[in-house]
Formats: sequence, C-alpha cells, structure tokens
Amino acid sequence: MATSTVKLDQDTIRIIKSTVPVLKEHGVIITKHFYQMMFENHPELKNIFNQTNQRKGDQPKALANTVYAAAQYIDNLEAILPVVKQIAEKHRSLNIKPEHYPIVGENLLLAIKDVLGDAATDEIISAWEKAYGVIADAFISVEREMYEEVKHTTGGWIDYREFKVVKKVQESDVITSFYLEPVDGEVFPTFKAGQYITVKAVMEDQPYEHLRQYSLSCAPGESYYRISVKREEALGDYPDGIVSNYLHNSVQVGSILPISAPAGDFVLDEDDPRPLVLISGGVGLTPMVSMLETTIKNNPKREVFYIHAAQSSTYHAMKDRILEISEQHQQVKSFTLYDKPIEGDVYDRAGYINSDWLNAILPTNDAAFYFCGPKGFMRATYQILNQIGVKEEDIHYEIFGPSEDITN
Ligand SMILES: Cc1cc2nc3c(=O)[nH]c(=O)nc-3n(C[C@H](O)[C@H](O)[C@H](O)COP(=O)(O)OP(=O)(O)OC[C@H]3O[C@@H](n4cnc5c(N)ncnc54)[C@H](O)[C@@H]3O)c2cc1C
Ligand code: HEM
Repeated sequence: MATSTVKLDQDTIRIIKSTVPVLKEHGVIITKHFYQMMFENHPELKNIFNQTNQRKGDQPKALANTVYAAAQYIDNLEAILPVVKQIAEKHRSLNIKPEHYPIVGENLLLAIKDVLGDAATDEIISAWEKAYGVIADAFISVEREMYEEVKHTTGGWIDYREFKVVKKVQESDVITSFYLEPVDGEVFPTFKAGQYITVKAVMEDQPYEHLRQYSLSCAPGESYYRISVKREEALGDYPDGIVSNYLHNSVQVGSILPISAPAGDFVLDEDDPRPLVLISGGVGLTPMVSMLETTIKNNPKREVFYIHAAQSSTYHAMKDRILEISEQHQQVKSFTLYDKPIEGDVYDRAGYINSDWLNAILPTNDAAFYFCGPKGFMRATYQILNQIGVKEEDIHYEIFGPSEDITN
C-alpha cells in the first residue's frame, strides 16, 4: 500500500485514537447526516450509491465503521490492508474514482462537526481532516493498482461496456439467467470463479441509474458471461426490488446492459487439492455453481460436495444441471435440502443444515469451504462450520449486500 504524502504527527495520532470511541458512539447519527448532506450537495452520487441500501441503513453503517476502524490503525494501515482490498474491489467494480474522495471527506467532516457541536474543537476537526486524507490515499492507491490491472488484462475495460443479452433462461419460479456477450464483438476478459460484475440499470421511469452486483454463474472461459438473478418481490410495506424486476420484466434477448469488468476477492483457490465443500442457500448458488463448473473443467479429480438449500423444487434453480454433473462426475456429490418441500419433491433432507448432518455426509473437516446465501443462512452456516471444527482460514463466503459481520 502506498503511504500518504501527509505525515501524521504524534499529537494528531493521539487525538484521532482518543476520539474514535466518541464518534463510534454517535456513529449512526453521524453517517445518516453525512449521507443526507452529501446527496443534497451532490445529487449525482445517487446514480452510484444503492438507494435501497441507504433506506435500509446497511451501507451507512458499513462505510462509517470502516472509517473508524481505519482511524484506530491510522499509524499502521498495513494491518487493515485485506479489508481495504475487499472494499476496493467493490469500489473498482462501481468505478469509484480519486475525485470522489474529497466529496466524501468534506461531507463526513461537516457531519462530525454538526453532530458533535462544541465538542468538535478545531484541533479535533483538523486531526480528522488529516486522518481522512491518509485513509483516502490508501484506498486510492490500492484502487489505482486495480484499475491498472484491469486495463492491462486481455479484453479488460474500465467504466462500463455494453453487453447484449443473447439468451434468457428461466431457472426456477424466481431465478432467471441472462447470457451476455459484448456488443463490440471484441475479446473480453476471463474471470475467477466467485467474482461478480456490476450492472448499470438505466430505466426510463427512474430519475437515477441503479448499480447492482451479480456473481457470474458460469465457468470462466465460455463465449459469454452468465448472471442468474432472483426476482425480489415486494415484502410487507417494501416495494419490489428495482433492478431484479427490471431485468426479469423488461430485459429481453437483444437488450443491452452496461456492465463493469469482473471483480471481487471471493474466489476459488484452484491450487488447493483438498476436498471442496460448496454450500448455498437460494440465489446464493450463483458463485457456487461457477466454482463447481470450474472444478469439473479444470480439476476433474478434486472431490466436491455441493450442498444446496432451497424452499422447494419450485425455487430450486439449475437442479437438472447439478444432477447431470453429479451423475457424470463420480467425485462430485450433491445434496439438496428443502425447508418447505411440496408433494413429489425429491431431496436429501427436509429442513436446514445442522452440524450432525454435515458431519455425517462429509468425510473430513480438512477441506476448503465456500458458502453464500441469505444472511440468516450465512450466520447459521458459519456457526455450524465452527462447531464441526473447520479452521478459520478454510472458511470463505460472499455476502450479497454491504459487508457485515456474520461471525457473531
Ligand atoms: C457481490 C454480490 C453478488 C451478488 N450476486 C447476486 C446474484 O448472483 N444473483 C442475485 O439475484 N443477486 C445477487 N446480488 C444481489 C443484487 O446485487 C441485488 O441486491 C438484488 O438483485 C436486489 O436488487 P433490486 O434492485 O432488485 O432490489 P432493491 O431495490 O435493492 O431492494 C432489495 C430488497 O429490499 C427491500 N426493500 C426496499 N426498500 C426497503 C426498505 N426501506 N427497508 C427494508 N427493505 C426494503 C425490497 O423489497 C427488496 O426485497 C449480489 C450482491 C452482491 C453485493
Ligand atoms: C475512505 C473512504 C471510504 C471508505 C472507508 C469506504 C468504505 C466502504 C465500505 C465499507 C463499503 C461496503 C463494502 C461492501 O459492501 O463490501 C463501501 C461501498 C461503497 N462505497 Fe465506499 N468508502 C469510501 C469512499 C467512497 C467514495 C469516495 C465513494 C464514492 C463517492 C464510495 C462509494 C461507495 C459505493 C457506491 C459503495 C457500494 C454501496 C452501495 O451501493 O450500497 N465510497 N465503501
């Protein structure tokens, strides 16, 4: 990580570290105020930030917590490099640029000032201004390297590139796949199983553009990218999901979608010879299916256990393909769990995964575990993997939303 040109003196470091707890205490109020002001001053940023996440409050928490966490390590940012890299992957996928950082910094400082009132002395504000500069520089330098890398990858691109929908396949009652090929007909980069792209949805009836990430659900090296999207239906007072419904209802074969180049650090380690355990819930199957397809293609001897949980067969996407794979490849064993099975359903277990069941079907816990699904499913799976003694470094997961702690 490049070091900032701004050197922080000991006094500044002391002030920052001693005020982190105060800011954390006011965390949610500060960040809500910060976003409100930032969108008032820069409404164009509504094209970038997910407005649903704003309403839910997930994203405000994620950004502020990271600024405070970084501030705690202000004299040793190397220590949080893995976190910075993970966020930077998402930023790169969203085309966040260096010129955006001063806008966030300025509004964050204004929010801190407003909320702390008299407690925000000039000394404190000036220390935070410097600290934000150092943190922003760290992000900018990591992101610069990522932009350089994608620019120099064969077929790579920065910003958005138009892809055409060449095939649309209904995979279940709620999940539909979209096969995408570049409009320009030129080469496009391969990716690592587990990575995602960002789709920019431009809808006539919406005042802003909407950006959403979708994991690639095919194996790398095909003549297309494939994404598989769950239609998010209205729930109680909450409206239908904006982009997923647009994709399901309005995007057809021949439609054009601007997308960013594949990104993300949730990737399959193909060099690990140990058994691979893939666990998915609902639409969380997308990166898992990509990992499964990749393994049978590139490591056909690797033992794979693929466990998928869905409500019932009507919600179970790609069922036939998984069955086909496990019939054709002896080293692949697949298991299906339905928590609301319907008549005629064929499955291995009714209900949810638990540690006894997992222990019974797996020959070992010395394996690589990857999982993805709804948040409750993720928390439960993490606990179960702990209960069966899986080592922390063997546990990998992707959250389909702003990052949050699922480990407690
Ligand atoms: C790395 C990554 C990979 C992903 N991969 C996939 C994938 O492969 N397939 C896939 O289908 N999805 C994937 N997602 C999720 C995807 O990006 C979208 O979040 C999803 O499609 C929903 O977007 P939407 O615009 O349809 O819904 P949104 O409009 O964002 O709404 C989401 C949900 O929030 C509810 N809601 C709306 N307002 C509120 C409110 N005020 N309070 C509470 N709830 C509210 C809506 O009813 C809806 O159910 C991924 C996400 C990430 C981060
Ligand atoms: C040092 C400053 C910053 C920090 C610490 C930070 C932190 C974060 C974190 C923790 C996330 C969630 C990551 C995830 O979901 O995996 C995130 C996402 C995001 N960030 Fe940043 N960020 C910073 C600067 C910026 C800037 C300058 C912009 C652009 C103006 C930006 C735009 C976004 C967007 C659009 C998302 C996706 C969130 C969503 O759409 O809901 N960030 N950032």
